[in-house]
Amino acid sequence: MEVDKILFAPEEIRARVRELAAKINAHYVGLGADSVTVVGVLKGAVVFFADLVRELKLGVEFDFVKVSSYVGTESTREPKLTLDLSGSVTHKHVLIVEDILDTGHTLRFLSDNIKTREPLSVQTATLFDKPSRRENGFVADYVGFEIPDLFIVGYGLDCDGEYRQLPFVASLKTK
Ligand code: IMP
Ligand code: MG
Repeated sequence: MEVDKILFAPEEIRARVRELAAKINAHYVGLGADSVTVVGVLKGAVVFFADLVRELKLGVEFDFVKVSSYVGTESTREPKLTLDLSGSVTHKHVLIVEDILDTGHTLRFLSDNIKTREPLSVQTATLFDKPSRRENGFVADYVGFEIPDLFIVGYGLDCDGEYRQLPFVASLKTK
């Protein structure tokens, strides 16, 4: 497969990440929070995570989880935690950062899982959202871009491990 069309250029992504960060900052100011544990979902969210945390104006702790749910372009619909948080989130504000929200199973599973650990709050931020693909009504608190039902790569997003390092987001030619 090869890259088909560039859908989001680096500058457009950067501008949108700043807007999301401004909303997130305002939310935590409103809560009177002075720090948040930002949980990146490996591996796809790494690039978004790195850009987002540098725009946050409160104390940030990093943590990461890994959830397996995809083989190729097919969701298995049964997410599993294959790497857990390194620390406790009890009595902490948690912001889960994901690359893309598709069927919704990954974020539903993760936010439910983290809520069992008695955090002060749990919110979710996703850079991309394909609302037409949702199977469980999950709604993220912060969404960068809504996109139609197509498979995208770049800026952390992969297809079988490839294309993550692209600075832009593109669709793939399927043959
Ligand atoms: P969900 O559980 O179906 O919401 O899937 C979310 C996960 O599917 C994300 O963490 C991505 O790894 C993967 N995913 C869904 N759509 C795409 C896409 O268009 N490109 C790359 N990965 C995707
Ligand atoms: Mg992923």
